[in-house]
Amino acid sequence: MARIPQEIIEQIFTTARIEEVIGEFVQLKKSGSNLKGLSPFNNERTPSFMVSPAKQIFKCFSSGKGGNAVTFMMELEQMSYPEALRWMAKKYNIDIPEARPQTTEEIEESNLREAVYLITDVATKYYHEQLLESDAGKAIGLSYFKERGFTQETIAKFFLGYSPEQSTAFADFAIKNQYSERALEASGISMKNERGWYDRFRGRVMFPIHSVSGRVLGFGGRILQSNAKAAKYLNSPENPIYHKSKVLYGLYQAKQEIVKKDEAYLVEGYTDVLSFHQNGVKNVVASSGTALTEGQIAMLKRYTSNVTLLFDGDAAGIRASFRGLDMMLEQGVNVRVVSFPDGEDPDSFAQANSTEELDAFLAKERKDFISFKTSILIEEAAGDPLKRVEMVRDIVASIAKVPDGIGQEIFIKEAARILDVDSNLLYQELNRILGLQQRQAKKQQAQAPPMEVLPKTDSELTQVHGYIQEQCIIQLLIDKGTKAMLDDTLEEEDVVPISIAEWVIAEIEDDGIIFATPLYAQIFKMLLEEVDKEHIPDHSWWVRQENPEILAVVTEALTEKYTLAKWEAREIFLPKEQNIVFPLVKETTFRFKYVYVERKLAELRHYLSQENADMDYYLNEFSKWNSLRQLINEQLNRVV
Ligand code: CTP
Ligand code: MN
Repeated sequence: MARIPQEIIEQIFTTARIEEVIGEFVQLKKSGSNLKGLSPFNNERTPSFMVSPAKQIFKCFSSGKGGNAVTFMMELEQMSYPEALRWMAKKYNIDIPEARPQTTEEIEESNLREAVYLITDVATKYYHEQLLESDAGKAIGLSYFKERGFTQETIAKFFLGYSPEQSTAFADFAIKNQYSERALEASGISMKNERGWYDRFRGRVMFPIHSVSGRVLGFGGRILQSNAKAAKYLNSPENPIYHKSKVLYGLYQAKQEIVKKDEAYLVEGYTDVLSFHQNGVKNVVASSGTALTEGQIAMLKRYTSNVTLLFDGDAAGIRASFRGLDMMLEQGVNVRVVSFPDGEDPDSFAQANSTEELDAFLAKERKDFISFKTSILIEEAAGDPLKRVEMVRDIVASIAKVPDGIGQEIFIKEAARILDVDSNLLYQELNRILGLQQRQAKKQQAQAPPMEVLPKTDSELTQVHGYIQEQCIIQLLIDKGTKAMLDDTLEEEDVVPISIAEWVIAEIEDDGIIFATPLYAQIFKMLLEEVDKEHIPDHSWWVRQENPEILAVVTEALTEKYTLAKWEAREIFLPKEQNIVFPLVKETTFRFKYVYVERKLAELRHYLSQENADMDYYLNEFSKWNSLRQLINEQLNRVV
């Protein structure tokens, strides 16, 4: 589908009213300047779901979800961003023009894709019917599924099938019914050589692989007899509709439950998914035996950021998955792991146990990934000091992938406990890695000399990268950035007062202070870019952001009690907003700077304590930052 032009997206946002969109699904009642209702995401009796018509955002206090009208549709109906935009455009009768006329080639390509969808759908029904109706299907395929404990209901829900032994069975059927031969070939379901057509899947039980919206994209076919020569599973080849790296088996059947449980179980095989469903645990998808891809992770993340990986206990398999798990951490997924007892896999365990037993087992065995990885590696490294060093590196490298400081802190403590080492040691390694990454990132941006991020000290362990201060400053910039900073810091001749955003930026930039939390750094950078274009982003600009993580921060900033409610409440007593806001802006900014400078000084102190350090340089740096610290201290004392 063509991209939606930017002007149209703007038009949708200006036309749509969040209260009308949400009003279609939730009964809203007036409550002060807001609207209130029962959360559509949770079963609740007292309304905790708020909509702000003024800010065009919603916030669900029971599930923590929040955002704009588009986000609401994405959450509620599990739509993608463009799908939600199209839904809104339709509601408000806004035409979405094709970005440009399609070329003949494009039209042909999209026709071919449609034809491949069609033939794949035809094949799905054909294999299903063969399984349930044909003599061979019943005798061979159906009895195999029965033997493995799969019920009629499971077979129907996953539309399982059977491909006949005869090598031209489906090709004959398709050609006789005049389906496009080009599409048949492109789909890979049948193939052609000098002697004519023949089918890819012969004498196999068939597992159709659905897209999230329920169209079949391709198949996995399992052989029935154990035959060393043929592969156990045969899969559809890459084709115009099936892209192995972008599908997760079972997601279509599981997505509702994943949202409800706010967690997904990730297994390896088709039969694991089937048995879990049948057992009653339905929030499960399979990677189909391959290494997890970024695309698959991104897809899952649309439904939940809690993913629990289920392993059948063999060590090689576990190790092979470490990279995929690191990738998930990097994308902000909260990764947990369960390994099954020797000789069992999720399929056999779910078949042999009741739902209660399965639930209890999963709850009991579930470990966070870092602890899990640590305990695996510790076994491997037992008695080998060199391996131990390597292991510490390896574990901390995983922790460095966790995007937020608080998460990193928790994992460092946990790893230190399991490894029985001083957590400072791990922090040193973490900061070395983070420093390296930061330097690389800077190099890529071809910017000024790299800034060193150095080991932390004890006192800082509580500061958690100044995460809280960063959060405060960002929330403030989003909520109050456009307000004018009218106060005594301005010269008299400054007839045009500057905005809070500009004031804060100047304070931060002049002292060379940077954000440690990647998400906040990203938001700050966006702000900088806008301000450079002489545009100070207001609420409506912020709430139109597409990135859900940024939008979550925005919603938080616009609803967070301490910024909004507290300030507004205070305004009742102090009618002039500047009397409250300006001191708060200053206090927040100075605190943020203070924490940064403290950390910098601690780093320098560490360097100075090392042998063969460049003393002159570090002493010079130290005194520079130290005087800045004094300055900020004075500023803080004046405000507080
Ligand atoms: N797989 C594959 N090709 C193979 C083997 C495996 O595509 N030759 C994929 C399949 O998606 C399979 C998954 O890897 O479901 C896990 O493999 P395995 O554990 O061997 O299969 P199971 O699903 O456990 O199948 P079964 O229980 O029927 O043996
Ligand atoms: Mn199995």
